[in-house]
This record gives sequence, structure tokens and C-alpha cells, in this order.
Amino acid sequence: MFTQSIWNAYSGETAFEALDEDITVDVAIIGGGITGVTAAELLARGGRKVALLEALKLGGGTTGHSTGNLYVGVDHTLSAVSSKYGVETLRDILAARSQAVRLIARNVSEYTLDCDLTSCDWYFYSDNPESDTLIDRELEAARQAGLGVQYGDASELPFSASRVLRLRDQLQFNPKLYVQGLAHAIESASCRIYENTAVESITEGRDGICTLQTPGGTVRAEHVIHATHTPKGTMLVQTLLGPYREYGIACRLHSGMPGPGIFWGYPRAGEKYSTRSYRRGDDEFLIVVGRPHKVGQLKSNEECLHKLEQFANGHFPVAEVTHRWGGQHYRPADLLPYIGRTHEDSNILIATGFSTDGLVYGALAAGMLSDLVQGRSNRWTELFDPSRKQPLKAAKNFIKENANVFVQYLKDIPGVAVEAREFSDVAPGEGKIVEKSMQKLAVCRTLDNRLLVRSAICTHLACVVNWNGAEQTWDCPCHGSRFKPDGSVLEGPAMRPLYEIQLLEDEVHVVTPQEGEFTQRNPELF
Ligand code: FES
Repeated sequence: MFTQSIWNAYSGETAFEALDEDITVDVAIIGGGITGVTAAELLARGGRKVALLEALKLGGGTTGHSTGNLYVGVDHTLSAVSSKYGVETLRDILAARSQAVRLIARNVSEYTLDCDLTSCDWYFYSDNPESDTLIDRELEAARQAGLGVQYGDASELPFSASRVLRLRDQLQFNPKLYVQGLAHAIESASCRIYENTAVESITEGRDGICTLQTPGGTVRAEHVIHATHTPKGTMLVQTLLGPYREYGIACRLHSGMPGPGIFWGYPRAGEKYSTRSYRRGDDEFLIVVGRPHKVGQLKSNEECLHKLEQFANGHFPVAEVTHRWGGQHYRPADLLPYIGRTHEDSNILIATGFSTDGLVYGALAAGMLSDLVQGRSNRWTELFDPSRKQPLKAAKNFIKENANVFVQYLKDIPGVAVEAREFSDVAPGEGKIVEKSMQKLAVCRTLDNRLLVRSAICTHLACVVNWNGAEQTWDCPCHGSRFKPDGSVLEGPAMRPLYEIQLLEDEVHVVTPQEGEFTQRNPELF
């Protein structure tokens, strides 16, 4: 069912070397998505020596699984931000996001990046009375903040709508081509890009110098930027984030492909879809993204892809669904991302809580963090400070997300959340939690009938992982770590693979590696 994102399909492979020596740089950037590569460009431009360390492939994480839309609006809605923070703060956020969009456009122009950047209008629509009032509120909030929005005409949309808001001159692109092209353009002796280089540990000395351990070498750096969508390891900010998974499909149509445009809307109350077209060469696709849910907390996430297909088929003459994918986002407790130092005296910097607005917030974070590293003032530092103390603004979502995490921890109790008694109960393509000797085991069988067994206890903070059937991964419901069937880390805060298992007669032994011992051995046990 799951294939690959449209951006992966049209971007080819990069082939940057893995780190294989000890190095010293001014700034180590962890993560090669839009935040990391854009920050690397700005820091290299400022004369800093940079090493960018990507665990897998550049742009292969959330950047390569996004919508490819660049807009000043926000997922939480402008009206929600305005009512929580006031119109002046909303104005600041819109200015920050505008500047970030301009930064991306500047890079595309300056480096002549072939990434299908297109200008288009952004539409926010409703086709049900309940959501019509939301569109009205949105228009009012946007106008108060000085944004040039207006009611649009339903005839401008490729589907029916009872209320339409339109904002001109936003952008669309292929985000993975952007990241890959920018990385190739900036790589030099003083801006090194490494792929297949997972950071296994990060320590900050009393002198402020940070040391990052990777399988091939150690990096010493004056500053570290976590450009990993959510910081690696354990940080307090993770209690302020809700990890969500959302899905996308790309389709060929028999006819009637919409032109450039970002179409956000509620065809039905409570059901939001993002729709756009994508053209590269002679190929044209319709893209539909939506159906978010908490990571690791849906029994059948294949159903999300079915719903997207239903929406596409209900509104367009779909000839074929060609690509299906999932992407992750982290919702902040108080609606604003967290960008800055982990704490006042630290040289470790983070950028997270982007919700579904991560391409623009990623570029914004790159600018803010590169200013911070270079000792420049930035007008948005205080607004997005990760240490901001606004407990009442975050309280509702903080309580909701952490109550949810607490419930997930109850699954650690022996006998709870067990899905199969024996390994033989797991069919090809399935993953189930099996309990042996009071140990929770993540047991899955590949489509070619290989049985893979690992500990089901997440190596971040010990929640029990859940099987994601659509994407064939183990997903952690607490803070969003995701693992391949063989236990290796795909994304999220976890830094270690799911632990190996040894069967000793009737006993199950979980092999917990010593610090620094991360060798991936063959997880195929049976
Ligand atoms: Fe935190 Fe799994 S991601 S416990």
C-alpha cells in the first residue's frame, strides 16, 4: 500500500560521504532537512566552519514527506493565534514567516536551484456551515493583522465550496529538490555535508564545547543545532509537543488538473484536507494530504490512506493513485514553535514544534539560529524562545498531551497491550506485541516472510511501540520515535535502535548495549 512520497520519486539520490574521522568545527548541525541545510548555508555565508550530519539521506525525513507548500498562514489558524496572543503577536508571526518564505526564494534564485518553485494563491475554504464561521473568523483575524486576504469565489476552486478565503502570491516547490540542490551548492572544505552519519551521543563540556559521537568519528563544535524536527535525546521541551502523523497521496487524473494553488479546507466539518497539483516535465499529479492522528495510536492507519483516496475520487477523475506516504509533525502546547537555546547558558540549540507549517518555520529557525550563533540580534528570539514562561497559554494542551503519554505508559504493565501469544500468530506484513517472560516484544513479519523480533520498549523513554501497518514501522506513541522493522531509528528523539532479544531456553533476554555500543547486528532471529 505504502510507496514513496512524490518528492522522493522526483529527486534522485544524493551521495555525500559518511563521516570517517574526528573533526573540529564552529557549528555542528544534526539533520539534513530544510532547517539544517538552510542553516548551513547561512552559517557558511557568515564565515563559520560547519559540519552537517544527516543520519540517513538529505531531505529524506519530514522535508521529503511534506506538502511542498510555502505560505504565511498557520495550521492552528490565525484566529486561534490572535485570540491567544493578540493581533500584534500575530502580525509578528506573519512577518517572520514572510521573511522565511523570501529566504527560500532567495536561495532558489541565487543558486539557480531546479526545484519547481511556483507562485500561487492560497485558499482556505469550507463546504459546510460549521466550518464557514471558521473561514469568517480567519478572514477577520488576517485583516486585523494587515494581511491582504479577501473572500474568493468558489468558481476559483477545483471543487465545491460554500465559503472561500484567498491570499495571493504564496509559493510551492519540490522541497527535496530544494534541499538537495542547496546542499550541493554550499558544500565546501568549510561546509562539510555528511550522510549516513547518525549522532549517537551529545555532551556539552563546562567550557561550552560540545562533543558529538558518530559511528565514524567525533565532532567537536562550539555550537550544536538540533535540526531534526524534534530534538534528539531527552529534553524538557518534549513534554510540550504532541507528535502526529499525517498522510499524502499523489494521483494522475484523466483530466481537469488544477493549476498552481494551495487549497486548504473543510469539505466536511472536522475533516481538513490540503490539495495541490505538481508538475515536473510532462508529468502532472494531484496531491492530497490529511488525516492526522497521534503517532502510534491508530489501529489501522491504512484507513487514513483510504480516506484520502476517497476524497480524491469524490472530487476529481482519478486515473491512478501513484504515490502514498506519511509525514510527521509536532504540535506545540501553546501554538508557537520552540526555536533557540535549550537553556540560557547552553550552546545547544533546538528548533521544533512546527506543526504542519515546518517548511516555512524550518527556514525561519535556520535564520534565527544562525543569527544566534553569530551573536546577532533577531527580532523573534523572545517570541519563540524554548524557555518562554507562559504556562497558562500552554496549560490545556500540556495537560492533554501528558495525560495521553501517561496512558501510553500503562501499556508497559505485564499482560497489557499484548496482541498475540505466539510468533506464529504474526502474518506477513503484520507487526504485533508479544509477551514472553514478562518482556514486551515487537514482532513483525516482512512481506517475504522473514520474522523480526526486537524489544518493544522504546529506547527514548521506555513506552511500548505500536505497529504502523501502512508504513511498516514501529512507532512510539509517547514522543514520536519511529523505528524500522529491524529496530533501527527512522526519526524522533530516540538515538538507539530497539534492543535486540536473545532467547535463552524459556527466558527472553533483552540485550542493552553499553554506552557507545550501537552495532546493528542481525535482528533476524528465527
Ligand atoms: Fe519517547 Fe518513545 S519517543 S518514549
